[in-house]
Amino acid sequence: MKAPREQWSSRTGFVLATIGGAVGLGNLWRFSYVAGENGGAVFLFVYLVFVMLIGIPLMIAEMTIGRHAQGDAISAFEVHRKSSAWNMVGWTGVIAACLLLSYYAVIAGWALKYFVGAATGALWSAASADYGSYFRQFISDRAEPVAWQGVTLLMTMLVVAGGVRHGIERVNRLLIPFLAVIVVILASYALTLPGAGKGVRFLFAPDWAALREPKVYAAALGQAFFSLSVGMAFFVTYGSYMPRAFSLPASATIVAVGDTLFAIVAGLAIFPAVFALGGNPAAGPELAFVTLPQVFLKMPGGAAIGIVFFFLLATAALTSMVGLLEIPVAAMTHRRGARRWYATAIAGGCVFLAGVPSALSYGLFDHVRVGSYGVLDMIDFGVSNFLLPAVGIGTALYVGWRLERAFALQEADFGASRWGIGWLWLVRVIAPLMILVILAQSTGALWQAISFDEVKSEQKIEFK
Ligand code: PHE
Repeated sequence: MKAPREQWSSRTGFVLATIGGAVGLGNLWRFSYVAGENGGAVFLFVYLVFVMLIGIPLMIAEMTIGRHAQGDAISAFEVHRKSSAWNMVGWTGVIAACLLLSYYAVIAGWALKYFVGAATGALWSAASADYGSYFRQFISDRAEPVAWQGVTLLMTMLVVAGGVRHGIERVNRLLIPFLAVIVVILASYALTLPGAGKGVRFLFAPDWAALREPKVYAAALGQAFFSLSVGMAFFVTYGSYMPRAFSLPASATIVAVGDTLFAIVAGLAIFPAVFALGGNPAAGPELAFVTLPQVFLKMPGGAAIGIVFFFLLATAALTSMVGLLEIPVAAMTHRRGARRWYATAIAGGCVFLAGVPSALSYGLFDHVRVGSYGVLDMIDFGVSNFLLPAVGIGTALYVGWRLERAFALQEADFGASRWGIGWLWLVRVIAPLMILVILAQSTGALWQAISFDEVKSEQKIEFK
């Protein structure tokens, strides 16, 4: 027998849970390093344009079918007919979520290890200030990264097994306001450091010449999908626990603004500190794990700041992992009638196993490479640059063209307003076209990379 379907307890609960899912490594770790590699302010500008023209419209589209279906990511694509070919889009979204979670847990594990290290003092003493080799030694170990990956996944499974209201919503209600305060305090502190102005300029004073570089667009689009959590059935799933009374456009806007503010304030915590203390903002994925600890070590009160920063990073990652794991769990409970704890155990176990090669990609599997991409890089590249945009296009076309226009507008809470027409055309034409152009361009870059056996060094993790 199916239990009655759970719902968020209130709009605040829904917004906090959804921001908790959206705010994660993407805001604190990925945003700052990708912005650092792509010119800072120009990247931010292009990113904001994509959030408005692609991100928010797609979020609304995902929530529209999710809430209508009151089911899972796959049944959301069966508005007209069961097992229609459109549900392939839903399936792809679920697979993308599982793949993303598989390596996300690895990086969350790194963050958790650094938090524990910072709190116990091991991080500050063991590294003797050479965090490059400290980090490399850790991620190339044959067991440690797997152990930390397992711990973060277990914590995630405990929350998800608790259910929508008592697990997911409760944890996010508790943590998200707290994390927002922490990130603001970190930024306020970083801004008082002498030389902080350079970091602020880096993030806000654009060098427009960089607009001519195609890689800026691809990076901004990938980041928009990753950070807003679009293209992996997340809003379809969280939207399915939404009561009719919440307005979708307002909810999507609040979540997008909250997510973007988090990334910008985190940038204001990171770049001023990096510039003030002579680090390299374009250090790549190592920014959080090598550059920042070095910066913390030189800062007055840096050890305490380090504890707080890595707590923030690990916790924000955890609330996102909860959102990601809920996607396959919702599909299994709704479609197969599985019990929640059982679905959580199976999905969590599979994701763990799928992530082991990523956890070992700098150790045991270091030799597995395409060009210079290791296992983790390859999965990240494939998911963020191809799967998420593809699911984005599929969702946009489904909502824009397959659903009847009046139905889509009404289900999205636009009714007959002008905003609705704008949204519809963004979803029908503009967003898919923009995604397609950028997708074609990254395919070209990939092709070149494979045929010349060199992948652009800006996009990869190179530790050798
Ligand atoms: N948006 C999250 C981040 O920025 C990642 C995520 C994607 C979380 C999808 C949940 C669902 O880290």
